[in-house]
Amino acid sequence: MGKNIVVIGTHWGDEGKGKFVDILTDKAAAVVRFQGGHNAGHTLVVDGKKTILHLVPSGILHAHVECLIGNGVVLSIPDFFKEIEQLEKSGVDVRERLLVSPGCPVILPHHIFLDMAREKVRGNRKIGTTGRGIGPAYEDKVARRGLRVGDLFNPEYFVSTLEDNIDYHNFVLKEYFHTDPVSLQQSLDASLAFADQLHPMVGDVVEKLGFLCSSNANIVFEGAQGSLLDIDQGTYPYVTSSNTTAGAISSGCGVGPRYLDYILGITKAYTTRVGSGPFPTELFDRVGSHLARVGDEFGSTTGRSRRCGWFDAAALKRVIQINSISGLCITKLDVLDGLETVSICREYQTGTNREDLPIYDKIPGWQASTVGARKLSDLPTEARDYLKLIENACGVPIDYVSTGPKREDTIEVSNPF
Ligand code: IMP
Repeated sequence: MGKNIVVIGTHWGDEGKGKFVDILTDKAAAVVRFQGGHNAGHTLVVDGKKTILHLVPSGILHAHVECLIGNGVVLSIPDFFKEIEQLEKSGVDVRERLLVSPGCPVILPHHIFLDMAREKVRGNRKIGTTGRGIGPAYEDKVARRGLRVGDLFNPEYFVSTLEDNIDYHNFVLKEYFHTDPVSLQQSLDASLAFADQLHPMVGDVVEKLGFLCSSNANIVFEGAQGSLLDIDQGTYPYVTSSNTTAGAISSGCGVGPRYLDYILGITKAYTTRVGSGPFPTELFDRVGSHLARVGDEFGSTTGRSRRCGWFDAAALKRVIQINSISGLCITKLDVLDGLETVSICREYQTGTNREDLPIYDKIPGWQASTVGARKLSDLPTEARDYLKLIENACGVPIDYVSTGPKREDTIEVSNPF
């Protein structure tokens, strides 16, 4: 029987999902993206070479794997081709293995202009978006005026709808935001100009998934961003514009919930967040700086520095419920090496301004290096105690521990396949 495994980020993204999608893909026939866009940044290190993917599913470095992009993904076509060309330059054969749904909304220049203009106007209440037009593209989809990949092959309809959309959005850009409008040509250059190149990669992702499921193939579903950035379940309004949790798979690529066998939650050994919004366990002290420096906590999409804090098990418990997480993967354990003590937030207390105040469990840290450890027994006792503390607080088993960016720097406790 084939198995379908979901990889989901448990907090605010950047948990290290790319590495685990890549590892799990060893045993899979296909990897599927079902939401988000090129706001995602998935870093893979294979044979010492670093690859950052934004849109192409993280299974692409395995030659036998098909990479599917479901209708829930918003597609910036120029960025998609930039990524394809970069992969091709490094010798990876891509086009034949990519299948893009005709239902993907197309990100257009006015989406990017609107994203930036809105953030500017919000001032210090800004969301801290990636500035890639993600939110406005999803808005157009929900408003039922958006253009989708399939529309590129009906140029007459595409151009006339685009003209209407540009008229509407330029009015807002000029009259409300007092900023530059977009031109039709600029929009066509970023969309219709790629139609012929894109055409061979466009096809029915739903049908393909149906075929794979009925032929007992293993499939990996690759979440982007993190559960607390989910538009409905996250820290609204400081969220992204898609549903990032496991429930989004069915609507985002067309596989019913009963086909999902295992939900693997990827969680960092501490917590980080890029952009604005609540972060109860955030640290502003020496430990916070240690995590940022040793963990190299800079966004792989925007290069912004990430905010860092202690492990938030209180939030994780809720995230486990929302996603029905089956097992956890703890990444970047080695970043905690050398700390005198380590803490996890077990629960919150409500503060005077109704804010969440973390209550911590604190235990001794470890001084020995865990970098590159491949077995649980290679870890210092205190590091194992830390993992036990997380497991006990969350009630879900740890399947993997990651001790470095390379594929091999991994402890496999249990393989979900
Ligand atoms: P947007 O997705 O560009 O609209 O940004 C909304 C929020 O989600 C901002 O706080 C971003 O920093 C955050 N965000 C979006 N994509 C990612 C990601 O892949 N990793 C981490 N944060 C992200």
